[in-house]
Amino acid sequence: PGKQWSIWNKFSTAISKEVLESVRTYRTTNKFHVSLNLTRRNSTLSKGELLCELKVRVPFGTIKAGDGPFSGGGWENILPNESLAETLGLLKTCAVVMSSGSIRNSTLGTEIDSHDAVLRFNSAPTKGHSVDVGNRTTLRIINSQLMMSKTDGFLTDPLYNTGVLMVWDPAPYSRDLYAWYRKPDFDFFQTYKDYRRLHPQQPFYILSPSMQWDLWDVIQENTPTDIQPNPPSSGMLGIAVMMNLCEKISVYEFLPSHRKTDLCHYFQNIHNRQCTVGHYHPLTFEKNLVKGLNLGSHCDIYTSGKVTMCGFSQKRC
Ligand code: C5P
Repeated sequence: PGKQWSIWNKFSTAISKEVLESVRTYRTTNKFHVSLNLTRRNSTLSKGELLCELKVRVPFGTIKAGDGPFSGGGWENILPNESLAETLGLLKTCAVVMSSGSIRNSTLGTEIDSHDAVLRFNSAPTKGHSVDVGNRTTLRIINSQLMMSKTDGFLTDPLYNTGVLMVWDPAPYSRDLYAWYRKPDFDFFQTYKDYRRLHPQQPFYILSPSMQWDLWDVIQENTPTDIQPNPPSSGMLGIAVMMNLCEKISVYEFLPSHRKTDLCHYFQNIHNRQCTVGHYHPLTFEKNLVKGLNLGSHCDIYTSGKVTMCGFSQKRC
């Protein structure tokens, strides 16, 4: 109360010193050998054009048995046979629930659960938080680091047994499946096989590693300044996945509401502004891009941290 507050500022003046510093640092390392001289668009695309750019240039795919190195070695009986779209069926409306601290005390749970499908990320729980985040989990996207961290107990924690799972791993920019398979960022392949043997009935997909860089290219080309040469966040990847599966998508607390806070996650009392503006991930720039796709009002962002957008099936390009 009494405090001046504006919604997420899309313009470069909003890029914090810390973010600029991490951009510089990560571009020096350039761990994934990203091509750093991509053409930048000098005009801003309209919502429709931006949607088409994503639809045409960021094809969605998961690893199927027989793809490059994923042949033999038991992969045939381990990777799902059905596509994710077949597994989930027709989805009219989808909720993408970010793990942001600003969703705490939002009472958005009922609204979130009213969608046909609900996407959550990594170790985000519903238990004890359902008033704010809902209880349903249709799909959970996790990173490979989480699968490999001993403290999370990925193979034993029942949190992961609900809904469909999908894992992604930071891969080389070259999009070379063999190079990635030989040297994944976190070597999750054996744990993936172990989990599949323990839960053969639960669909569990591996996101095609090219998608992260196809998405990264679009983010960089539509950002006037340099961005971190690291893969987009799980949240941004999830938005892109859902645009392929749903007619309409509501994203919660990616662009923070008036509850904007330094609290990193709603389920942990750890404070760090980088969780919201990004350090490793080009999160500030992802958020600017998503703001350019919003079909909803500024009021929706302010009150619910909600961005609404069209799925790819609704747009002819
Ligand atoms: O931290 P984690 O990656 O598990 O969170 C899921 C996603 O939620 C992030 O990838 C990011 O896109 C989004 N997020 C955010 N602001 C936060 C925390 C998470 O935008 N404070």
